[in-house]
Amino acid sequence: MIDVRVLKKLCPTYSFLHLDTIDSTNEYLKSRLDLFEKTIVIAEGQTQGKGRNGRSFYSPKGCGIYMSLLIKPQNDPNTIFDLTGITALSALKAIQTVYGITPSIKWLNDLMVQDQKIAGILCESLFFGSQIKAMIIGIGINVHTFERPAEIASVAASIEDFSPIKKPRSILIAKFLNFFDEFLAAPDKALGDYRKQLAYVNQKVYIHQAGQISTGIIRGIDDHFHLLIENEHGQQESLVSAEISIRPWIQS
Ligand code: BTN
Repeated sequence: MIDVRVLKKLCPTYSFLHLDTIDSTNEYLKSRLDLFEKTIVIAEGQTQGKGRNGRSFYSPKGCGIYMSLLIKPQNDPNTIFDLTGITALSALKAIQTVYGITPSIKWLNDLMVQDQKIAGILCESLFFGSQIKAMIIGIGINVHTFERPAEIASVAASIEDFSPIKKPRSILIAKFLNFFDEFLAAPDKALGDYRKQLAYVNQKVYIHQAGQISTGIIRGIDDHFHLLIENEHGQQESLVSAEISIRPWIQS
């Protein structure tokens, strides 16, 4: 079990709600927008963990971190996008600090080790008319080794598959929140660090966008974490929302 007393002690500016098993912590928070900003819902397991683009996120009980953070941001689309990048980087730094391994970031927000995904982030923005009402940042990290169903066996892995270090999950969550606060206060540093960890730079990738697949070469990110791609015609484009794959099919 995740020790919430440790979290309350190490991260006093956050509120924590610790649940056993629910469908999805993102869905739970959507129904609880009355909660204070910086409330975090953590579940020991999820029965319908959600990933990006309608995929699911396998969330076996006691094996990972499945949590969602409630933010009530200013109505600035750039801030919303920046938050997603900052979340991925904070998770990466926390994993590096606690477990001594350095994942790379598959844009925008998958953490990869040896081409296998160990963590994913699903940010959902809720609007009231054109005003943003809340943002829910959902973070899923595979921590302990678990039995992987056949459909994810070749693409997903856990931190402990790559690191001999064993630590309570509460320590990883606390480190993540420390980095998250640090990078929110210093977004330029976050951009620089994110660029260093971006995967597949100068490599050809497949881009899945609005139902179309194209190819391009990753050149970096701009100052709001948009992906800079050199397209098939040699022109530079910046992508706000797309799925990247190094294989000619889409995998999570
Ligand atoms: C992805 O891989 O595309 C994103 C995965 C996000 C998973 C987390 S687990 C906690 C939160 N609740 C969910 O249902 N999804 C996110």
